[in-house]
Parts: sequence; C-alpha cells; structure tokens
Amino acid sequence: MSNKTTAIACSNIALIKYWGNFDARLRMPLNDSLSMNLDALTTQTTVEFEDALEQDVVVVNDAAADEKTWNRVREHLDRLRALAKISTHARVHSRNNFPSATGLASSASAFAALTLAGARAAGLALEERALSIVARQGSGSAARSIPSGFVEWLAATNVTSTSDQSYARQLMPPDAWDLRDVIAIVSRDAKKVGSSEGHALVNTSPFLGERISRLPTRYHRVRRELLNKNLKGMGTEIEAEAIELHLLAMTSRPPIFYWAPATVRVMDAVRQWREEGLQAYYTLDAGPNVHVLVEAKDADEVASRLRTFADVQDVIVSGAGGGARVNDAHLF
Ligand code: PMV
Repeated sequence: MSNKTTAIACSNIALIKYWGNFDARLRMPLNDSLSMNLDALTTQTTVEFEDALEQDVVVVNDAAADEKTWNRVREHLDRLRALAKISTHARVHSRNNFPSATGLASSASAFAALTLAGARAAGLALEERALSIVARQGSGSAARSIPSGFVEWLAATNVTSTSDQSYARQLMPPDAWDLRDVIAIVSRDAKKVGSSEGHALVNTSPFLGERISRLPTRYHRVRRELLNKNLKGMGTEIEAEAIELHLLAMTSRPPIFYWAPATVRVMDAVRQWREEGLQAYYTLDAGPNVHVLVEAKDADEVASRLRTFADVQDVIVSGAGGGARVNDAHLF
C-alpha cells in the first residue's frame, strides 16, 4: 500500500532567529524568522509504510535511533498517519551528509526530509505550504527547509491565528545571491540543552518583551537588505540578532550557555577582519559553532584564516541550497 520514497533536504542558518513559541505544542513561533538553506549540510531520508511492522523502525546514520529520537520521529509519523487516515507503521532510514559529530544541528534538514518522504510514502499529495506546516510541528526550523533558497517563516501570532497560517515561503531562489556560510566548528560535542528546552525557557528571561517589541524593525531591515543583496547593510543587524538569541538563553532560568571560549575568539576575529576591510559577519545557532557569512569571492580567504585557529576543529563552506526534494537513492 505504500510507495517507498526518499527525500533530501538542506539544513538552514537563520538570519533572524526563531527562539520561543507562541504555541509550544504546535510549534508556532513567537516571531517571523529569515534563513538561508545550506547546500553543504543535507539529510537524506527513506520512508516506507509496511503492514508487517508492529512498530515504527527508525535508523539514523546506520544505527538504531535512541529512544528520544525514536519518539520524536514516531510523533511526526503520527501527524502524517492522521492526515493520510492510515495506521500502518513505517520504516525510516535517515543519513546526514555531514559528520554527526560536528555539533551542527540536523533537526531542520531531518524533519524537512522526513516530512516530504513520509507524506509521499503515505500517499499524501501535499503542496509546499502544507509540507512546511507539517515539518514545523516536528522541528520549528524544519519549516524553513521545505522551500528553496532564502526563506521567510511567517509566525501568525494573533489570538485568532491557526496552525495553517504559520509556514515558510521562498524570498529569493538560491542562485539569486552568491552568499557563503563559512562554518567554524569549535566543538563537536552534542548540545547539553536542546533547542526545544531553550524555547520552553524563553519566557523566564526578563528581556523577552524588549526583544519582541523591537524585532519587527530589525526583521524588515534585514529582509530588505537581503532582497537588495547588501551584506554590509544587513551584517551588523545579523550579528546583533545572534547575540540577542544568546542573551535570552543566558538570562533564562536556569541559564543556558552555548558559547565556548573559541566562539568568542572567532567573533572577535571577524570584527577585526572587518576593520581591515574584509566584509564578513557572524551568526550563531543554539550552539558554540560560528557561522561566518561572506560573499563567494571571500569564502576561501575566510576559511583559511579560520583554519589557523588552534581551537577551530573543522571548517565547512556552504552556499545557498535548494528546497526539500525527492530522489531515487533509497537507503534500504
Ligand atoms: O527548530 P529548533 O527547535 O531546533 O530551533 C532552532 C533554533 C535556532 O537554530 C537557534 C534558531 C533558528 O531560527 O534556527
């Protein structure tokens, strides 16, 4: 009854961050966010619903998923089963093209690929917007890995807003701007505090109200400069935005510190390089690794400078990536 389907999706780096939910159960965010898909960081996932299975089988990077991951995938499959009106269990194999020990988040690419492969395997013909809405409920940032290129995720935070109003859509195709994300891996450790816990704690930061009231101005400025392909115009706002996410985390109760000493060293160096004329700006996820945004012509220079740091363990360079898509390279 099921069509075995394989999908591939990119991770994404947020320029305006998602941090905190308006509705935690449905993962409806507190604010609009902006991102760039990363073509160097992808997840490939194969899904098949099989009548003979007594429970869902989940394999990630060739190993059986741990209980936490299995539960989260099962919940996501339940969403798809409810839409397709089926109760069959599924076999899911998923693989990242980047080493899982980079400390880089994979939930965006993972839930985007799982949503597309799972929907098709269940016989659902969902459009991009519907896929984004379903992906969002698995991991918020996954909503942004469904469309291609540079993406905005609309929050929908009115009291009357419904889940189907919070979805991501393309702002610009990936080839519209030759931007590069040069990622300095400063720690390969898995995060001590996952983003779901971080979102849940954001209301305990005394600075949340301030952030939410100021954010629309920043959002519109970054969005405008992104569409103008003006890195200088959006760069310092992006840096302030990244720091603000971490300020909220650090002032939550209990506080969450994601930075490592090398995080600060790289951030300082980027500011210094800029004073010397190199147009480079950093941003951060909920982790210690530093994403340095540059135009393509500067990517090699920045990558080789970052490699000279004793505590930078690896450097990954990524361009803007496409949206979630199906292919024939089944993993089982
Ligand atoms: O999708 P989640 O729950 O892993 O949250 C992502 C949170 C950040 O990466 C820190 C910000 C973002 O917008 O991607």
